[in-house]
Amino acid sequence: MRQTGNNINITVNKISVSYNDEGLNEAPVIIFIHGFPLNKSMWNKQVKALKDNYRVIAYDIRGHGKTEVGTLAFSIDLFVKDLLGFMDALKIEKTIICGLSMGGYIALNAIENHPERFTGLILSDTNCTADTAEAKEKRMNTIESVKENGVEKLANDLLPNLFAPESFKTSSEEIVAVKEMIVNTSKESLYKSLNALANRKETCSKLAEIKVPVLILVGKEDKITPPEAAKAMHEKIDIALLSIIDQAGHLSNLENPEGFNSQLKKFVDTIYQQK
Ligand code: MLT
Repeated sequence: MRQTGNNINITVNKISVSYNDEGLNEAPVIIFIHGFPLNKSMWNKQVKALKDNYRVIAYDIRGHGKTEVGTLAFSIDLFVKDLLGFMDALKIEKTIICGLSMGGYIALNAIENHPERFTGLILSDTNCTADTAEAKEKRMNTIESVKENGVEKLANDLLPNLFAPESFKTSSEEIVAVKEMIVNTSKESLYKSLNALANRKETCSKLAEIKVPVLILVGKEDKITPPEAAKAMHEKIDIALLSIIDQAGHLSNLENPEGFNSQLKKFVDTIYQQK
């Protein structure tokens, strides 16, 4: 029997995973995967926009939000195993998947290795490359900085890169909410996630094998995964649409929800009308 609502718990790979499950029964499913170090609540406006026509699910990745951290070392492969275990536990055979940044790394890895489980892919503010040596070093320095200076400093350092400058005037509620998500992430999870991000493998070489429709969204002012990264992925995928979201940085779904949602809805509707 399906449970609906917010902060539902289910055991997957020996940890308790927290998720929101809203919308119609027996409807096509869309699963949302958040970025680092955030949680499922970042998708609230997208869930609201789709729930009248679809079954819409957002879950907390291992160690984020209300999902347990567990004992294993984190990796994108483990996050994918959790995603598939989560889908199995909810008896979801196929879904559209939407991931932002780290969520996009997970979605790309999942679709390239388990294509039979997905009917469409939305990549938001993400890329397919692995970390450079410099980026890896930066992540290790971030771990040291959190040990020394705490999580509040991490949040203050991350915010100017997550949001476009203009958003500091127009999206103050979102900025407060994102800061809270960051400071509420445990240090253990931050260290483990930074290691997972640093050690992730590239997924660019398998983009051409993706055979489902893909929508790529990116904030015009995204400094972390800029429009160039989105364009590079767009060129390599067979059936892909690219949309650059105005008035947005890395968190385009939060900074310009109207622009983001109109592309998202159009894409999802098109996939399901074609069936
Ligand atoms: C994210 O938003 O998930 C992170 O910025 C990803 C990253 O640092 O590579």
